[in-house]
Amino acid sequence: MLHDELTLKITPTTTSRIDSVDWDNLPFGKVFSDHMLVMDYKDGEWQQPEIMPFGKLELHPATSAIHYGQSIFEGMKATKDAEGNVLIFRPDLNAKRFHESCERMCMPTIPESIFIDLIQKTVDLDRAWVPSKDGYALYIRPYMFATDDFIGIKPSDTYKFIIFTCPVGAYYSQPVNVKIEEYYTRAAQGGVGRAKTAGNYAASLYPAKLAKDEGFDQLVWTDAKEHKYIEESGTMNIVFEIDGKLVTPAEDADTILRGVTKRSVVDVAKSWGIPVEERQVSVEEVVQALREGRVTDAFGAGTAATIAQIAKIGFRDELFELPDPSSRTLSNKIGEFLNDLKAGRIKDEFGWLLKF
Ligand code: COI
Repeated sequence: MLHDELTLKITPTTTSRIDSVDWDNLPFGKVFSDHMLVMDYKDGEWQQPEIMPFGKLELHPATSAIHYGQSIFEGMKATKDAEGNVLIFRPDLNAKRFHESCERMCMPTIPESIFIDLIQKTVDLDRAWVPSKDGYALYIRPYMFATDDFIGIKPSDTYKFIIFTCPVGAYYSQPVNVKIEEYYTRAAQGGVGRAKTAGNYAASLYPAKLAKDEGFDQLVWTDAKEHKYIEESGTMNIVFEIDGKLVTPAEDADTILRGVTKRSVVDVAKSWGIPVEERQVSVEEVVQALREGRVTDAFGAGTAATIAQIAKIGFRDELFELPDPSSRTLSNKIGEFLNDLKAGRIKDEFGWLLKF
């Protein structure tokens, strides 16, 4: 429920930091723009949202999200076209997923149109922070966490919803090496794998660290029950090209995050007449196809990662090298298409961009 008189308050900064940004060398997630939006939930309704100067939060030591993990987030990107319009890529899908994460984590929802409106207004105030360089973007991070100062297990009665933004460069600057994980688990059926909740990422850190020690950038998660089926890659969904078909795990399993970039890859490929199979993908068939050289492309798809080509895939004591990234048609063509779309260089035939 929303407060009856929900109007946005705007308190602009008096000291912009924009002139200190090195726009040609943007790391991912380390530079923050001037403003953030904060909206509190209490007494059963959302209170007046405020856009204010970006700054620190003050938290009670018993803040329940820190102890019991009611914490969810989203990620999306804003880019600019040649005329200076800001373009946000498919915010409706993020709004829907945020809504689903709220429900799964027992948190109050925000109507999807208001979620999108608050994002638009936050980005609009900092539109000068949207990079124009190709491949760069303003990453948008909406999140919500439980704020009751209470020790005990129950859904919190109070929450904070915040949106901040960061101008970013590439998340992965090189093609990645991934390892198919057969022991550790990201998500089990009936768990919270489909929700974009903080703990899913915390749970992945230790197995990812072990894989890093073996020279891999990321894991490819498999199902918790038998470790027989490919799920996703933690920072991104995973897509293969096998025998000329685009093959990717279906998202009906509640263990896989419903990726916006992956959905877009599938939609674009289908529109180009490429055969697409969204289904259970077994480790065995992928490994067999890798052994026989039938995997001609493999990549991760994610908002942060965009299209991240996979250079090598490890499975037990085998290491498979995929074709030279520059020679791959599918990932390069789709990556280029999405870049062109986000830079406004091609017509938005799918109606995916929120433009302002
Ligand atoms: C995103 O792609 O937006 C994510 O939240 C994943 C994380 C690796 C930054």
